[in-house]
Amino acid sequence: MKGKKILIVGSGGREHALAWKIAQSPLCSRLYVAPGNAGTEKWNVPVQANDIQGLLQFAKGEAVDLTVVGPEEPLSLGIVDAFEAEGLTVFGPSEKAASLESSKAFAKAVMKEAQVPTAEYEVFSSLEKARQYIEKKGAPIVIKADGLAAGKGVIVAASQEEALQGLENVMGGAFGAAGQKVVIEEYLEGQEVSLLCFCDGTTALPMVAVQDHKRALDGDRGLNTGGMGTYTPPPFWTKELETEVMNKIALPTLALMRNQGTPFKGVLFLGLMITAHGPKLLEYNVRFGDPETQVILPVLESDLVPILEACTQGRLAETECRWLKDTAICVVMAAPGYPQSYAKGIEISLPAISSSQEMVFHAGTSTSDDGRLVSTGGRVLGVIGRGDSLSSAREKAYSLVRKISFPGAHYRTDIGWQGLSDKSN
Ligand code: AMP
Ligand code: GLY
Repeated sequence: MKGKKILIVGSGGREHALAWKIAQSPLCSRLYVAPGNAGTEKWNVPVQANDIQGLLQFAKGEAVDLTVVGPEEPLSLGIVDAFEAEGLTVFGPSEKAASLESSKAFAKAVMKEAQVPTAEYEVFSSLEKARQYIEKKGAPIVIKADGLAAGKGVIVAASQEEALQGLENVMGGAFGAAGQKVVIEEYLEGQEVSLLCFCDGTTALPMVAVQDHKRALDGDRGLNTGGMGTYTPPPFWTKELETEVMNKIALPTLALMRNQGTPFKGVLFLGLMITAHGPKLLEYNVRFGDPETQVILPVLESDLVPILEACTQGRLAETECRWLKDTAICVVMAAPGYPQSYAKGIEISLPAISSSQEMVFHAGTSTSDDGRLVSTGGRVLGVIGRGDSLSSAREKAYSLVRKISFPGAHYRTDIGWQGLSDKSN
């Protein structure tokens, strides 16, 4: 069988992890990453992730067999529709199906219609009506800008004053068009967990569950970020919980999307809160998570390529997906100042890595003209440890962090704390 040419779209840690996994597949004869980072250098092509026409020309010109889209922006711009219209095979949802992430109001309407357990909510386009609703409901309460806001359009307000202030910011233009409409919803308490599922429009296969650490500082303090670290599996996660989430959330969503004529293909990412009343859905994302993917792929035993292809061909039900029993943890090393304004161009030096239980996935890195590894983004590196327990995986990741030279790097020292506070670990 002829090997496949595979193109990954994106430049973050998620895309480096995808490239690392796909490069190991005997089915892949040629890999490209557009535009990639210093970690994916040998595969990089200079086309930006949201340049749909540029990517299309490239994929046609090189006769790419499969394109895998990382970030939400090209998906919400319709990259899948554009590629399919040209007869190209692409892993990801259509523009309409991607609205599950690009519009929180659409997502909530789908949850309601599919009877997915979620926080009670209302949608507002009028600042005055939204204000009255907050005054009626009181705090704590959650305000979400409708559109894409790079993970920063959500305000979890502890007091009514904070809620009203947040509302003024969101609707007053801090998020541009994304904030013209807001979703205001009930505050949910519990353990937060991400469950990502491979989907082919009909069938959903769950991946291992992951806990993310969104706040910038130890002890879950400080500003919200794109994610400062992850680990899998959370100790409270069980097969029963997985079955409940699949039956009450993933499968009803897929059925509704299919019945609406917008079947969902790609990764359906469920952001869940495990409450005293069972799992409830906070949000959908329509892609691999970052930094969730950096711990999921190191424990995926199966070849990823046949799974991705099965998703594009509606053959997932007959496809095997095996997982290692291992734990994996990812510690994100960010530029000093992140998530606010941060320095760029910091020189980094990485140690040689000899263990298959340790790895570094690059995110905001590039190689300077004179060949030095330098930082170019906020989240710069994802440092991974894998082991037979959370404490051994954590020990490996943090000992690798200490060997990396990255002046002023900011990272959390408590990734995995929820898991470690559970006695079984
Ligand atoms: P989202 O971008 O929707 O994932 O929201 C960002 C973060 O806000 C989530 O990861 C949660 O920690 C928090 N959050 C969102 N919705 C709620 C809610 N209804 N109750 C409590 N926390 C929430
Ligand atoms: N880590 C959360 C996300 O990818 O949106």
